[in-house]
Amino acid sequence: VDQTYIMIKPDGVQRGLVGEIISRFEKKGFLLKGLKLFECTKELAEEHYKDLREKPFFPKLIDYITSGPVVCMAWEGVGVVASARKLIGATNPLQAEPGTIRGDLAIQTGRNVVHGSDSPENGLREIELWFKEGELCQWTQVQVPWLRE
Ligand code: GTP
Ligand code: MG
Repeated sequence: VDQTYIMIKPDGVQRGLVGEIISRFEKKGFLLKGLKLFECTKELAEEHYKDLREKPFFPKLIDYITSGPVVCMAWEGVGVVASARKLIGATNPLQAEPGTIRGDLAIQTGRNVVHGSDSPENGLREIELWFKEGELCQWTQVQVPWLRE
């Protein structure tokens, strides 16, 4: 079973979109394993986005992610990584389809409200990076028989 790291970025928190964004993953039926409001350090933001450190926008990206609290989430489910990326939509919100989070709720790449891991390997890496041991819950949803045949 895959796990993905989803993070509501500081603009999503400031704009009051936390409930709306969590709700989309919740309604889809994925299993929430971890959730916290968190002020991240520059070092953690840099480690999270280390693959982008050569990009010209990297310093702006780190300023953005550390500009206020973020909401960290770990979600589990078969195919959750790719599915969450679809629910989130394209990186540039103007190109994101209506119905996606970015397509419905954002307009700029540099203010695209939410992050989602891009592979199952990165899902595990990022959950380990953002959550401490004991912060994730093992539980069973009562709706499982109604989600899977
Ligand atoms: P994440 O889910 O946040 O990882 O976004 P992504 O996977 O859709 O895009 P990518 O990993 O390539 O970029 C990470 C983040 O960097 C984006 O979500 C944007 O917030 C930011 N970013 C990417 N490209 C640009 C850019 O050209 N300009 C600016 N200002 N920010 C960018
Ligand atoms: Mg990415």
